[in-house]
Amino acid sequence: MEAPLEIKETRPDPSWPAHGAVTMVDYSTRYRPELDLVLRVRATAPEPPGACAARRLMRLCAHSAPVGAPSQNLSLEIAPREKIGVVGRTGAGKSSLTLAIFRILEAVTGRIELDNVDIAPLGLHDLRSRLSIIPQDPVLFSGTPASGRHSRRGGRRGDDDAR
Ligand SMILES: Nc1ncnc2c1ncn2[C@@H]1O[C@H](COP(=O)(O)OP(=O)(O)O)[C@@H](O)[C@H]1O
Ligand SMILES: [Mg+2]
Repeated sequence: MEAPLEIKETRPDPSWPAHGAVTMVDYSTRYRPELDLVLRVRATAPEPPGACAARRLMRLCAHSAPVGAPSQNLSLEIAPREKIGVVGRTGAGKSSLTLAIFRILEAVTGRIELDNVDIAPLGLHDLRSRLSIIPQDPVLFSGTPASGRHSRRGGRRGDDDAR
């Protein structure tokens, strides 16, 4: 069952997430209870310190790693304003990573923090309304860009809508 949309006790500050730091600690998830964990990564040597901080690439192998290859739950840190490319063959877990941040998939192990806030106890709307995504598949809405912005926010108009 899906978590509640809004949870007053855990609602984040209105300005959250102001910076965009993403931390995943010992994270894994799965699509259904009887399926294998996904977002497991190949256990490789850590990146050398300072390796291309601006455009780090993260390789995911999910559970499609060769049988017997060591793998571990996913831990990573993305700094505010850091640009990350996620690469991996089909089935590696690129889409699952996004589903995890939006909690369309819930954590089985570990946690995800955005600007140091653990996203697990948040209401789903409290979380998702603060995040933006540009989907792979184009979607066309009729109307003006401004009306698109209004509908995304539940029809409320604000001072910045005309910009
Ligand atoms: N709807 C689904 N149901 C069950 N397993 C899935 C589903 N979507 C993806 N998976 C599994 O999750 C793993 C990662 O897939 P995915 O995140 O779609 O990879 P990518 O986006 O890198 O191609 C794969 O092993 C895939 O089989
Ligand atoms: Mg994908």
